[in-house]
Amino acid sequence: MDGSGETKAKAPQDRLADWLAEDMAAVNALIRDRMASKHAPRIPEVTAHLVEAGGKRLRPMLTLAAARMLGYQGTDHQKLAATVEFIHTATLLHDDVVDESERRRGRPTANLLWDNKSSVLVGDYLFSRSFQLMVETGSLRVLDILANASATIAEGEVLQLTAAQDLATDEAIYLQVIRGKTAALFSAATEVGGVIAGAPDATVRALYDYGDALGIAFQIVDDILDYGGSDAVIGKNTGDDFRERKLTLPVIKAVARASAEERAFWVRVIEKGDQRDGDLAQAMAILSRHDAISQARDEALAWTARARQALDNLPVHPLREMLLELAEYVVARVS
Ligand code: IPE
Ligand code: IPE
Ligand code: MG
Ligand code: MG
Repeated sequence: MDGSGETKAKAPQDRLADWLAEDMAAVNALIRDRMASKHAPRIPEVTAHLVEAGGKRLRPMLTLAAARMLGYQGTDHQKLAATVEFIHTATLLHDDVVDESERRRGRPTANLLWDNKSSVLVGDYLFSRSFQLMVETGSLRVLDILANASATIAEGEVLQLTAAQDLATDEAIYLQVIRGKTAALFSAATEVGGVIAGAPDATVRALYDYGDALGIAFQIVDDILDYGGSDAVIGKNTGDDFRERKLTLPVIKAVARASAEERAFWVRVIEKGDQRDGDLAQAMAILSRHDAISQARDEALAWTARARQALDNLPVHPLREMLLELAEYVVARVS
């Protein structure tokens, strides 16, 4: 398939999915096979609930696309793609406990349907399964990259814990948080695709840079959607970040420009956690007064431009075009 004609109108991730359909089928089979457990029935219950709900499968597609773009002919990239999706799913299980979230992928979260204990332990199980999978590739370099990414994700989530509820959190700390909790897995996903394909260092570096920039843009957009996206479209409840008193980019921008009265509002709802009916609407009115959403979107666009620059260092290939369009598309969700 050449990515032209009737597939042109599709979203970039759907065209990636078409192009990588055979690989993705193998990845999905691996995911189904490895998420099972003969000994603890709760595990397949919880994992099936999450996996059957789908998810966009962006990260495994990044690994597959990177490897295929560089001419890889084996099957280890499928194991790495499944590894990356397992790490992602494990972090979602844990994240929804930490964030006390009630919706994910258009369904009630596992912590709501079962309990926190099940989410934490099944998340641990998936993490461990991901390590078993990556070991099967026999590549220490790949293990190094994915082990580092896993540690960095956890660091990002923990840093966010202490940055939340603190109005002194600035854009530099925010960037550190999202680069850790989100971009680290995107960049590892693209990087290991290049590594398994035996690409030269400069190419692997460009793949890393692309994944890093894409992941940062993606999380900025996710944070924008938490204020004013549609629950149905994002498959999660909006307003979670406000309730959790997180300093995401739109709020940081609005706090920096706050009047004395607005600052008192932020102190009450974010620092003191004294939230009342109508406060979320009030927060959104303040964001809009300071143009905070469109400023945050501009930052996301700047990261898209960086993603594009990184792709310039990769060989010309239809998959490279799709990765470029993907970077533009993730931000177009809030345009
Ligand atoms: C959710 O990621 C977690 C964030 C980094 C915002 P996705 O939006 O890729 O989640 P799924 O896999 O498609 O559900
Ligand atoms: C996403 O965190 C990153 C991880 C899951 C590690 P968020 O808490 O911002 O993402 P959502 O909104 O729950 O998907
Ligand atoms: Mg969350
Ligand atoms: Mg979170």
